[in-house]
Amino acid sequence: MAPIYSRIIATGSALPERAVSNADLEKIVDTSDEWIRTRTGIRQRHIAADGETTGDLAFLAAQRALEAAGVKASELDLIVLGTTTPDIIFPSTACLVQQRLGANGCAAFDVNAACSGFMYALGIADKFIKSGQSKKVLVIGAETLTRMVDWNERETCVLFGDGAGAVVLEASGEPGIYATCMHADGGYKELLWNPVGVSVGFRDEPNHGVRIKMAGREVFKVAVKTLDSLVDETLEAVGMHESDIDWLIPHQANLRIIEATAKRLQMPMDRVIVTVDQHANTSSGSVPLALDYAVRSGKVQRGQNLLLEAFGGGFTWASALLRY
Ligand code: COA
Repeated sequence: MAPIYSRIIATGSALPERAVSNADLEKIVDTSDEWIRTRTGIRQRHIAADGETTGDLAFLAAQRALEAAGVKASELDLIVLGTTTPDIIFPSTACLVQQRLGANGCAAFDVNAACSGFMYALGIADKFIKSGQSKKVLVIGAETLTRMVDWNERETCVLFGDGAGAVVLEASGEPGIYATCMHADGGYKELLWNPVGVSVGFRDEPNHGVRIKMAGREVFKVAVKTLDSLVDETLEAVGMHESDIDWLIPHQANLRIIEATAKRLQMPMDRVIVTVDQHANTSSGSVPLALDYAVRSGKVQRGQNLLLEAFGGGFTWASALLRY
């Protein structure tokens, strides 16, 4: 039987209207534009308005992707949404978005893999298509991470932003996603986490103790090392070499981590999509936002090979190598 591939037929994204610069943050915490730029590459981030949710951003990104694909919501047979900041505890944000799109009836669920959420969602969707179970799938990565940032803690609050991206996948005889890789190691859970919740309980603290805690330097070191082996693993899975990759579309957490991965791939930075300067770290939103920017700006062309990767809390890490 001829192989079935998942092809990205269109992309979409959405950002909150309000952009907050590093200079704006200087007024809130003891930081500087220079510190943030040189350590992370971030210049600004978008922050959701009061009442604006992950689901709102996901819905907009999905609408834009469906419109660009020329696919009706009723044609979808699966929605997978990566997020670690769902609108409510349940139903899943995927279900909320499904209803707003008018795709009622298809399977819909969220995936929580922190910053690797979209890459996990893409890998899962690819398996649904490859197995013959699904023909048209909407994959979304969406977050309002600034809702769980402690705005008094300069080590973390300068790093994150809100946003969403989406892709429409279709079953095809032509490549397509060649391979996806997914990993996790819960042994690192305490280096990057938000350790309150329904079952362990919330805390008698501002915002019920909901805030991101991170050991930045340690996360940085493990991320660089892990992403190095992830790109090796992904290339090996497909039997490709560094030189076969046209674009690296990495998780947008820190420019220095991105540069380290590009170096490992021997890729000049003009073949790497960088949006961290504009969006900061939007967690599950980051890779699909960068992909949509790359497509709509005309950088990424049909027929090119793209390497997508992400790393996040868990730790989790995941990748996809595909022909666009
Ligand atoms: N503004 C100014 N100074 C700050 C600051 C801020 N926003 N945040 C921290 N500092 C200070 C620290 O207090 C420390 O001061 P000290 O030397 O007087 O103790 C100094 O800057 C250096 O801190 P350090 O944490 O060692 O800096 P770093 O070079 O490791 O950079 C990160 C910090 C967070 C930018 C970096 O570690 C990083 O990007 N880590 C990965 C984070 C990440 O990507 N997480 C998400 C993964 S999905």
